[in-house]
Amino acid sequence: MKKIIEVLPDKPALIERGIELVLTKIQSAISERGRCTIVLAGGSTPKPLYGAIATQDLPWDKIHVFWGDERYVSPNHPDSNQGMARQAWLDKVDIPESNIHPMPTDGETPAADATKHEAQLREFFGIEAGQFPQFDVILLGIGDDAHTASLFPHTEALQVQNGLVTVGNKDGQPRITFTAPLINQARSVLFLVAGASKRPALAQIFAPDADPFTYPARLIQPQEELWWLLDGEAGELKYEE
Ligand code: 6PG
Repeated sequence: MKKIIEVLPDKPALIERGIELVLTKIQSAISERGRCTIVLAGGSTPKPLYGAIATQDLPWDKIHVFWGDERYVSPNHPDSNQGMARQAWLDKVDIPESNIHPMPTDGETPAADATKHEAQLREFFGIEAGQFPQFDVILLGIGDDAHTASLFPHTEALQVQNGLVTVGNKDGQPRITFTAPLINQARSVLFLVAGASKRPALAQIFAPDADPFTYPARLIQPQEELWWLLDGEAGELKYEE
């Protein structure tokens, strides 16, 4: 696995670089495999990137969109990651609804919906229990506590080794999240991190020996490329490669 850290002057430059990288990954996936499977991050950082992707002229029928985590709310709730990406991007392009694969949040329990989504992923990729699908590119952010997706420090979700999707927990609020092993099957992971508040977490994530269960983003080791795009504020600290 190749790790690349780029510090961009500011957030607009971070988003511009992010677009460049995402488009490259989408186009290479389509040319090599006939389709692209891209997994979206939630939160606020990626929203302008989603808006910029919406302006691109892409073969939308060859692009399949998933989410790496979801707050346990309905899609039209203001906290919904699905809702944010639809409003910023997916509602603005001619992508078939069958190419959009949101995490369900309308079942009996978060655990039931996590199980349901795992079955949906297995069906989409045509894989059996025990196998892990390989996404082309997964976008991620980090929280000030170094969580990523909805893999929060010292939670049970970090221990899941043989599942694709599990229940996360942020201060008692349920989330649904990809597991670290599923994320790590991806060809490429692209972290987008902006703001000075992320510096302490980044310092631990890049430290030689910090505890991954305290700083979950350390768990992320994809198969081919691990990209860290940092804006000037987040990237103030110097990190060894
Ligand atoms: C979520 C995200 C989460 C996010 C980080 C960073 O559902 O909130 O998936 O992991 O990426 O919390 O969020 P910001 O981009 O808002 O700083």
